[in-house]
This record gives sequence, structure tokens and C-alpha cells, in this order.
Amino acid sequence: MDKFEKIMEIIEKLEDKSNELEVLEYIQKEYGFISKEMIKFVADKLDRFEFSVENTVKYYPHLKMEGKQVIEVKICTHTACSNNGSKKILEEAKKILGVGEDETTPNGDYKLMTQRCFGQCGKGPNVKVGDEIYNKVTPEILKRLIKK
Ligand code: FES
Repeated sequence: MDKFEKIMEIIEKLEDKSNELEVLEYIQKEYGFISKEMIKFVADKLDRFEFSVENTVKYYPHLKMEGKQVIEVKICTHTACSNNGSKKILEEAKKILGVGEDETTPNGDYKLMTQRCFGQCGKGPNVKVGDEIYNKVTPEILKRLIKK
């Protein structure tokens, strides 16, 4: 399912079609930002002016326009890393970031994800933060990697 199909699903569930905030909050939570493309889509589907939807995004501080890079935090949960304690690292990441798997922090800084193997199985537990893979990650190292 592509991003617009998912957004459309939320729109279809809306009882009050004049309230775009619920859709925008969903987009923010899922993607960590709201792009011009998404604003146009929401405006079209809710029969609103694009500038009006954009003004809503600008009005609420917890909604962010595109431009800020969301840092993906990927925890390897495949066999070797799992045997080396990656489940504990995943739980720690959830605690530090205050989000679940596949969720973005409310400030749009981080998205927490899992990964099935980085090909560095002997050095686990492995965590990728942005483009960098870190080996033998402990809860203490994780805290330093994803400062909030
Ligand atoms: S199992 Fe984690 S890198 Fe291969």
C-alpha cells in the first residue's frame, strides 16, 4: 500500500470531513513530516484550499513541514543479533524515544524500525542510525547514539 492509499484510508474513516487535523496528525506520526505533495492530496480529497491545509500545518507546532530529515534508527532483530541481545536494545530504544516500532517521535527527529540483518552478524547487536551501522551496541551506547 503506498502512502497516499494509507492517507486515503484515514480520510475515508473521518466522520467530520471538514477537520483535516486528524489526517495531518496521522501523516506527521507516520512520516515525521508533511510534504507539499501530501498537503495537496489532503486538500483535494477534503475539498479544501491547499493554502488552508498548509496554514493548519503551520499553526500547530507539533506538525512539521517537509525539510527536516527524519533519522531512521534500525535495530537488527535477526537470529545472530537476537541471540546477542538485540531485543533488549529494541526495548531500550522504545523507552528512550517513547515510540513503538515503525513510529516517528512527535518532534519528527527519529523513526524506530527493525531490520533483518545488516550482514555483520558476528558483531551484533547491530544498530543503524542514519547511514551508520554500530556494532556491539549496549543500552549505554544506544543512549549516546540517540540523544533526545
Ligand atoms: S543478524 Fe544482525 S547483522 Fe546479521
